[in-house]
Amino acid sequence: MEELSSIGVVGAGTMGRGIAQVLAQKRYRVVLCDAVPSQLERALSTIKKNLNRDVEKDRINAAERDQALANIRVQASLEELKGSALVIEAVSEVFGVKQHVFAELDRLCEQTTILATNTSSISVTQLAGTTKRPDRLIGMHFMNPVPVMKLVEIIRGLQTSEETFLATRSFVEKLDKVPVVVNDSPGFVSNRVLMPMINEAIFCVYENVATPEAVDAVMKLGMNHPMGPLTLADLIGLDVCLNIMETLYADFSDPKYRPCPLLRKMVAAGHLGRKSGQGFYRYSP
Ligand SMILES: NC(=O)c1ccc[n+]([C@@H]2O[C@H](COP(=O)([O-])OP(=O)(O)OC[C@H]3O[C@@H](n4cnc5c(N)ncnc54)[C@H](O)[C@@H]3O)[C@@H](O)[C@H]2O)c1
Repeated sequence: MEELSSIGVVGAGTMGRGIAQVLAQKRYRVVLCDAVPSQLERALSTIKKNLNRDVEKDRINAAERDQALANIRVQASLEELKGSALVIEAVSEVFGVKQHVFAELDRLCEQTTILATNTSSISVTQLAGTTKRPDRLIGMHFMNPVPVMKLVEIIRGLQTSEETFLATRSFVEKLDKVPVVVNDSPGFVSNRVLMPMINEAIFCVYENVATPEAVDAVMKLGMNHPMGPLTLADLIGLDVCLNIMETLYADFSDPKYRPCPLLRKMVAAGHLGRKSGQGFYRYSP
């Protein structure tokens, strides 16, 4: 993917907006799509806020900020993605929702377009199997917050071609990210290791072993984690955490991945973490 080629990002939530910002700063032209127009507005305002902060801190200059913003177009419909060299899907972590998006993309995009999914846990092979181009579908799993985190987990589905893999890996390197290649398995490596730890931290609160503050303090001060697991869960989104645990639980058929009832309850109450203003902690708007 050369600089200035057009790249689609579908889903303008926590991850989609971060991915769009990084691509735009690397001089790609980005079309950012979301089914919910207010999400597109929020995405643009978050990206502007992040870039303004980078200018204030002298990480970029004003011209670079303006160029990055000019590289992003927002769209409610996927039709505009027709000519994209690559489309990165970052919609909600629900198989049916992603399947629907990939069916649309498969129909609209050129046969040469690579389709990537930012899924945290859903089988890349299964998603690929819902399209007519399973060889050109791959997992490109960015970490949150995307502009800051170096890792991109690349997940090869069973039918992902070597050509698709090589193009994806070199694209990730051009973003100044570090690709780590893994095979397709529920949660891959990142969330297979991380999510059970977060779920266990939630069990500690549920079983009244400790307060959220105490659990986070133990992991920060005792294990040298940069942030506690409950602060991290709020940053990721509790709905995303629950969806990932559900996938691990269902796909491994192993009770060790049972989502904590408190996690279910919080999601049912709309306490989704930072994005809703309330999770294990409170956040001002
Ligand atoms: N949050 C994290 O820390 C994190 C980290 C890595 C990967 N991921 C993965 O990235 C993906 C997105 O997660 P997120 O946290 O950004 O979620 P989010 O809930 O913040 O955003 C999802 C967005 O998708 C949009 N959407 C839903 N259905 C759509 C459709 N049919 N067409 C277009 N847009 C649609 C929603 O309106 C919303 O804006 C998920 O697969 C998640 O597992 C999340």
